[in-house]
Amino acid sequence: MHGGLKWWMSGVVALAVILIGAMPSNAQSIEEKTQICAGCHGADGKPIDKTIPTIWGQQQGYIYIQLRDFKRGDRKSDIMQPIASAFERDEMLAIADYFSKKPWPDLGQPRAPKDVSERALKANASVGCTGCHLDHFQGDGTVPRLAGMGRDYLTKTIADFRSHARGNNPGMSDLMNATSPDDLAALEEYLSGL
Ligand code: HEC
Ligand code: HEC
Repeated sequence: MHGGLKWWMSGVVALAVILIGAMPSNAQSIEEKTQICAGCHGADGKPIDKTIPTIWGQQQGYIYIQLRDFKRGDRKSDIMQPIASAFERDEMLAIADYFSKKPWPDLGQPRAPKDVSERALKANASVGCTGCHLDHFQGDGTVPRLAGMGRDYLTKTIADFRSHARGNNPGMSDLMNATSPDDLAALEEYLSGL
């Protein structure tokens, strides 16, 4: 998606912005405000495209920070920036709370084979991912859950941290650049299969 929006996604964004703008936001319930999210993040929590992240069951603090960063432009996304810009801080917190309470969906991704898991666990032992992302990569607060996240999204966002295309957390960019591409590939396969 670096090469521009897919046609249908730009259509959904345009529609979303119209819908959000059509009503005074304080007259909309949280269900109404989040209806448009299902168009991409999935009505059952399973994203409709493999490069779109899972937000059902994600940590509340983390969802809030991403919406804030999209709105500020600190995390660049032609898709999410106009959507997040429609919300004020209290709405973002309520939306984050709403999605964090949904069950994390099972995307049915295969478990990594033994050699891949071993490489991923070794990389984790040296970098200490679970020092922040916690045991079983469940995350907490403003640190995201990674377990069971879509593999194509993990690959994309880790590449974006490395290139600083995702520049909202320089610490994660430094860590991803300090980890070898082969270790990261193993971690992506391992995490998606958890
Ligand atoms: C047109 C499709 C589309 C719609 C509609 C949409 N999103 Fe997104 N969302 C995306 C894509 C694509 C990304 C990944 C952006 C990137 O990393 O470049 C994303 C990323 C996110 C993230 C970051 C998740 C993470 O793991 O970092 C959050 C949070 C999010 N969206 C929340 C929402 C909410 C809440 C709504 C509804 C108000 C919504 N999105 C509507 C496509 C969409
Ligand atoms: C010092 C604490 C820390 C360590 C160590 C760490 N992370 Fe993170 N990670 C974070 C934080 C905080 C974020 C959220 C950044 C943001 O707000 O955008 C994050 C975000 C991520 C994301 C983005 C998730 C999403 O939904 O977009 C991925 C992927 C990730 N980390 C993978 C890893 C891997 C793999 C390792 C180990 C090689 C690792 N992290 C080590 C703190 C850490």
